[in-house]
Amino acid sequence: MKPVRVGICGLGTVGGGTFNVLTRNAEEIARRAGRPIVIEQVGHRSVHPDCDVTGIKATGDVFEVAANPDVDVIVELIGGYETARELVLKAIENGKHVVTANKALIAVHGNEIFQAAHEKGVIVAFEAAVAGGIPVIKALREGLGANRIEWVAGIINGTGNYILTHMRDEGRAFEDVLAEAQALGYAEADPTFDVEGIDAAHKLTIMASIAYGVPLQFDKAYTEGIARITAEDVDQANNLGYMIKHLGIAKRTEHGLELRVHPTLVPKDRLLANVSGVKNAVAVMGDAVGPTLYYGPGAGAEPTASAVIADILDVARDINTEHPYRVPYLAFSGVNEDMDAP
Ligand code: HSE
Repeated sequence: MKPVRVGICGLGTVGGGTFNVLTRNAEEIARRAGRPIVIEQVGHRSVHPDCDVTGIKATGDVFEVAANPDVDVIVELIGGYETARELVLKAIENGKHVVTANKALIAVHGNEIFQAAHEKGVIVAFEAAVAGGIPVIKALREGLGANRIEWVAGIINGTGNYILTHMRDEGRAFEDVLAEAQALGYAEADPTFDVEGIDAAHKLTIMASIAYGVPLQFDKAYTEGIARITAEDVDQANNLGYMIKHLGIAKRTEHGLELRVHPTLVPKDRLLANVSGVKNAVAVMGDAVGPTLYYGPGAGAEPTASAVIADILDVARDINTEHPYRVPYLAFSGVNEDMDAP
């Protein structure tokens, strides 16, 4: 069977992980996809030190990958807003499917990108944009498809949870643990996105779009970070029987959709209170299924690569077939206007 040819744009933490897992598990992945998945070209500013790109076409210009007629799927892992937007729109214009881990891009420019993809008949997939290695987009879109979703609440920033956990367990200062999370490759290029709740708001916006069948509405999310939380706050909460957790919450209300990200006191006996380190967890309440919980690594090279490659697999299976998730909220056959955020 004809291989699916992938162009990886960006060889940083996630790009490097994707390159390595695709190479290491090539046989297994090909069996699942029903056809080989090959890395046709990589576009990068600098090569990840753990990647051996010998024998693979490489360029310093990611737009060259988007124009390469031998590439079927662009994997956008450069991050950020504007260049990523241009790259993805260019790739779509050239008829390529897109897989991205870029939550900022999808939360802010997703409506435009999905529309372009819909018109062109290509897939845009973004499982890795939310909660790292946890397949929460697929759970919301497919596994819980029968349900009226009441609320979604989760720890969706690994860096923030890593900081809060180590402040509590080791009594360390905020800045000290943040520096460690950066060194481990968990934090965003601009870590204020993690600690001010912007990254969590991006992810919440994306989950809400899938869960409630609404366009992305990042500007409607109330966003408060953890940068002002001190070791004393964490300690006090602990003494009172609570953990401070940075939660993203999307809730159906009689006034429409409520979207909020803020530090929250969670009683210690709740599951969410016991999610430690870089782990994420997303709880979803559906009217039919009841409460469900999705848990796993929320950041890092190979966990995020796992989600990126799951999307490449989906594309490989779906190429040349109609698939409703190409524009996620149109999967609801029309926009649910009652659920617009106020
Ligand atoms: N900086 C993000 C986090 C990376 O810490 O959760 C994964 O999206």
